[in-house]
Amino acid sequence: MSKELKIILLALAGIFVIIQFIPANKPANEPSDYDFFASNMVPADIELMIRTSCFDCHSQEVKYPWYAHIAPSSWLVARDIRHGRHHLDFSKWNDLDKRKKLDALDEISDEVKHGDMPMPIYTIIHTDAKLTQEQRNKLIDWADDLAEKVFEE
Ligand code: HEC
Repeated sequence: MSKELKIILLALAGIFVIIQFIPANKPANEPSDYDFFASNMVPADIELMIRTSCFDCHSQEVKYPWYAHIAPSSWLVARDIRHGRHHLDFSKWNDLDKRKKLDALDEISDEVKHGDMPMPIYTIIHTDAKLTQEQRNKLIDWADDLAEKVFEE
């Protein structure tokens, strides 16, 4: 190994160690009495899909993977969860008024239709979260059906 390469590798290792001290501010899970799935509006197969493919960014039941504890990936995970929850938090579904529920269901249908959700970068590692076209169609139909029910309420 050349001297220059050694210096570069040592510098990179040093940077890696130093950035571990920059906190990611990972958002915590807030305890809640509300259970989105106990509400009778989510069939079992849909529940499984949402739990597996969406809950790590859109709920208060986030399971942090190992790479969430190591910078720089920890910063990205924390950011996705913050932004994800801000847009949609299944654990706080009941706090939404009727119009916001309808908006959320419309967005869910849209995001899943266009393949934007679950985030493709997430499913590279969480391969079980990947949705087949058939699963996508089921999720879309469910969101559209529920929107109709919410609308009529
Ligand atoms: C790895 C984290 C992650 C996963 C997993 C994930 N999302 Fe998201 N989601 C995000 C982030 C981050 C945003 C905010 C996007 C932005 O800021 O542009 C978002 C935004 C959304 C939005 C709002 C879009 C808008 O424009 O208002 C919906 C709806 C949504 N996601 C649905 C889902 C559904 C349904 C699943 C599961 C099938 C899912 N997401 C899985 C991170 C995630």
